[in-house]
Amino acid sequence: MKQDILEVLFTEEQLREKVAELGARITADYQGKNPLIVSVLKGSYVFMADLTRQIDTKCNIDFMVVSSYGSGTKTSGEVQIIKDIGSKIEGRDLIIVEDILDSGVTLSYLMKILQARGVNSIRLCTLLSKPERRKIDVPIDYLGFEVPDEFVVGYGLDYDETYRNLPYIGILKPEVYGGK
Ligand code: IMP
Ligand code: MG
Repeated sequence: MKQDILEVLFTEEQLREKVAELGARITADYQGKNPLIVSVLKGSYVFMADLTRQIDTKCNIDFMVVSSYGSGTKTSGEVQIIKDIGSKIEGRDLIIVEDILDSGVTLSYLMKILQARGVNSIRLCTLLSKPERRKIDVPIDYLGFEVPDEFVVGYGLDYDETYRNLPYIGILKPEVYGGK
């Protein structure tokens, strides 16, 4: 896989430090609360597993699957809920965990739907953000890193369902997806 990576952006060590920092902030902000932490699969599965183990307060875990991309590298603008949250979310304090905020189309849609279900509060925690590509403004409460407008993979992020298992985050060589 390594030969398909142009450049490593964040090493395992850098990711570990950042995730610990985010976990500490969430721990401080949610003392005495019982947040429902919702991971948007599949891209955030690694981040979710590491992040929640750095959160030292009672919490519940749930998962959603939404699709917006297909196998391309640009958003289609269409968002579909493939798997919804299993638990009742009325009155809950939600933390949505995402891998990367790109155009913002997926997340703004998702936040709107969840808000309408009568949650007490909703915050967004995203490991990565590509500010240059934003089409819809989505407020980020907990951000790991900003990344340039390049296609990145690893630590859960994929290209066409591959590279999720890389332990670091790297820029995918454009020739792999025939882009740029
Ligand atoms: P948005 O609706 O454009 O913000 O879409 C965000 C979703 O697109 C993320 O949850 C990822 O699944 C995917 N995505 C956007 N940029 C990248 C990237 O550089 N690498 C891998 N997946 C990406
Ligand atoms: Mg995703």
